[in-house]
Amino acid sequence: MITSTHLYQEIHEQPDVLARLLQEDRSEAEALAREIRKRDISHVVIAARGTSDNAARYAKYLLGAHNRLPVGLATPSLFSIYEQPPLFGNALVLGVSQSGKSPDIVSVLAEARRQGALTAAITNVPTSDLAQTADYVLDLHAGEERSVAATKTYTSELAAIALFSACLAEGTGGAAAMLAELEKMPGRVRETLAIPNAIDRAAERYSFMSACVVIGRGYNYATAFELALKMKELTYTMVEPYSSADFLHGPLALVEPRFPVIVIAPTGVMLPEIKLFIGKLQERGAELLIISDDAETSACARTPFRLPSGVPEWLSPLISIIPGQLFAMHLAAARDYDVDQPRGLRKVTETR
Ligand code: F6R
Repeated sequence: MITSTHLYQEIHEQPDVLARLLQEDRSEAEALAREIRKRDISHVVIAARGTSDNAARYAKYLLGAHNRLPVGLATPSLFSIYEQPPLFGNALVLGVSQSGKSPDIVSVLAEARRQGALTAAITNVPTSDLAQTADYVLDLHAGEERSVAATKTYTSELAAIALFSACLAEGTGGAAAMLAELEKMPGRVRETLAIPNAIDRAAERYSFMSACVVIGRGYNYATAFELALKMKELTYTMVEPYSSADFLHGPLALVEPRFPVIVIAPTGVMLPEIKLFIGKLQERGAELLIISDDAETSACARTPFRLPSGVPEWLSPLISIIPGQLFAMHLAAARDYDVDQPRGLRKVTETR
């Protein structure tokens, strides 16, 4: 029974985890924001792997748009293998890792500390090496994640980043409105989980699919990467993530009639652009799976996955990944794979 798997349970725990995080992490996020203002931090460097790296992609858009902070992703091997670390300057160096254990990620923060940079960690293990190396720690409060595929730690990483961004926006007057929207997210994730999208039946249609692409742009570029990762590790399907802009620069040639394309298309500034893109896919006869709250956009899909409406675009990644998590889980189950223990993977991957 799928409902008795850790993966199913952890996907459905997400509303409670987010509510806990928003309550418990507020004062630490505010303290970090105060320190950033005090030091006049000019940019952010993030070290992360896998799912956590996908959460970092979200931070690039959110901290850039709402806090005017350029965000770069670190190059951990320069620290751990080449031993030629670049200078951080006046950066916040942020490690994002649910386990807080991977030596390469810890090495980036350790070097940042040596250089006197401000450091912070977002992690589910506040006693981890990563947390102990950081000046500030945002604890995910997700409880133990027993399924190898990360779900509740991903959305809680997104929420921790959103909370931090909202606290940092205080000086610009945006904080109260951002925090009020953020507070609604546990309920909106619950609503998303309750939408009768018949994802189990949809998964059966795709049980022989061998390859597909996932398209998301802007805030949902992160969602495209995270959904592709869930599909690869749970269903062993070749799934590539792209921004719709990058896809037009060549990979579009892949699309022939019935080629499956998953498009993440929530309401927002990006939606008109994504609609034009969907038109190009329709001309080529692609099989469209569309994750959206917009009725007109959903009507273009062979397989629509509906989202609740009224969620601002900057928070949409917290809900748009949910149908993707469920789709990957049901597709794996339809293929008779173990959804909690994908082949050859462990929960904690320690890379150097
Ligand atoms: C994917 C997954 C992995 C981890 C990655 C990073 O579902 O679980 O990609 O996200 O191994 O692990 P942490 O966050 O512990 O550094």
